[in-house]
Amino acid sequence: MDTVKPWILMSILFAIGLISIGAGFARLDTVNQHVQSNSLPPELIDLRYVQHPVVTFIHIGSGMIFMLLAPLQFSPGIRRRIPKLHRIIGRTALVAAITTATISIWMAISFPAFGGWLTATSTYVFGSYVIVCFALAYAAARNRQIDRHKKWIIRGVIVSFGVSSIRILFIVFAVATDLQFEEFFPLAFALGFALNAVLAELVVRRRSAIR
Ligand code: HEM
Repeated sequence: MDTVKPWILMSILFAIGLISIGAGFARLDTVNQHVQSNSLPPELIDLRYVQHPVVTFIHIGSGMIFMLLAPLQFSPGIRRRIPKLHRIIGRTALVAAITTATISIWMAISFPAFGGWLTATSTYVFGSYVIVCFALAYAAARNRQIDRHKKWIIRGVIVSFGVSSIRILFIVFAVATDLQFEEFFPLAFALGFALNAVLAELVVRRRSAIR
């Protein structure tokens, strides 16, 4: 990642994040409308969110905050010239990421997960992995182990941004297969996170190799 110009990396992350931020606004709007009018939506996917509005708002809200703030952390300008701001944004993004990941596990336990065991298992695995990544990144920063900190941040950010890969895969499955939304949802969910986890390892290894 150090070989990519920071502004290009930040623009790519913003653009990818916007996919999930847009989906988040749409979902929150649907939930809000049904909660306000005290009505139930016909779609099963929406019904579960309308029945659990608080966790839905916390999960999607903290996810959106994380996706808006995370790209800023790759700005060398902010990091070098305003290190205090880098730390404030970093801590806020970290709390938002851990919140969204923790709530996602809670959602998979309490809803139950749309798409069944594969969605639930992916959530337990990747939600926990994201929490571990950011906890280790924070510990490394506190110990001034900057390279280790960067590696765990790269893993945590790329895997969390898997939520946008999932939405891109929704389109691929809808166009390229005859599967129904309920059928391809868990496949896209697991694949989106897994692909991003592999991408994160490739990026971390490449960074180590060119040092
Ligand atoms: C650790 C990362 C994350 C995990 C494991 C995760 C997991 C989940 C789970 C389990 C659901 C419910 C799926 C169902 O309907 O059963 C969900 C829904 C949702 N999540 Fe996340 N999530 C994560 C991060 C994010 C982030 C960063 C955003 C950014 C906005 C986000 C946005 C959404 C949205 C909008 C929904 C509603 C479903 C949709 O519109 O497609 N999530 N997530």
